[in-house]
Amino acid sequence: MWSHGEVDAAQRAARNGHRSTIVWLTGLSASGKSTIARALERELFERGMQVFVLEGDNLRHGLNRNLGFSPEDRSENIRRAAEVAKLLADAGLVVIAAFISPYRADRAAAREIARAGGHPFIEVFVNAPLEVCETRDPKHLYRKARAGQIKEFTGVSAPYEPPDAPELELRTDRQTPEECVAQAVKLLLGIVCSGGL
Ligand code: ADX
Repeated sequence: MWSHGEVDAAQRAARNGHRSTIVWLTGLSASGKSTIARALERELFERGMQVFVLEGDNLRHGLNRNLGFSPEDRSENIRRAAEVAKLLADAGLVVIAAFISPYRADRAAAREIARAGGHPFIEVFVNAPLEVCETRDPKHLYRKARAGQIKEFTGVSAPYEPPDAPELELRTDRQTPEECVAQAVKLLLGIVCSGGL
C-alpha cells in the first residue's frame, strides 16, 4: 500500500510558486533534445523554479546501466525513467525528461505513470529529419551505425515512431534553440503557474 506523507502537493506548489510537471522530450538521436532540455532548465531555473533534467545518456550510466537497446530494454529504460520523473514531480519539481523513447506504447505508459501521480505530462516532439540528424552526428554514432558497428540504432536499424498528438512539436531544423525554448516556456508556464500560484 502506498504510504502518504504529511506534506502534500498543494503545499509544495505553494512554496515553489508553481506546480510540478513532467516535460517529456522525444526524438531521434541528435534531434536536439539535450540542447533544448538544458536551455529550458536554465531558463526556468533563472525564473526561480525548481527544475531538473533527466536524460538517457546519464540514466544509462547508473540506474539503467544494465539495459541495452533492444525493444524490451528500451521499454524498461523508459518505464524506470518515467517512475523517476514521477518521484521528482512528487517532490514538487518541473522535470524535463529527454529520451529517444522511440515507441509510442512506451511513451503512453510514461504518460500513464505521470497521470497516476497527478502530474501533467507534456509530450514534446523534438523533430528534425533523419538526414539532418545524421549530418549533425555530434557523437559519430550514425556513422558507426551505418558501418554496422552499432546495432539497433534508432533511425538506421531500429524504428522511431513519431508522436501522433504531442502537446508541442519543435522543428529544430527550422527554428533556433532560443525559439524552441521560448515556445516550450510559454506552454509550460501556462500549465504550472495557473491557478493563482
Ligand atoms: S531510448 O531509446 O531507450 O529512449 P536513450 O534516450 O535512453 O534511448 O539513450 C539514447 C542514447 O544512447 C543516444 O543519445 C546515444 O548516445 C546512445 N546510444 C547507444 N547505442 C544506441 C542505439 N543503438 N540506438 C540509440 N541510441 C544509442
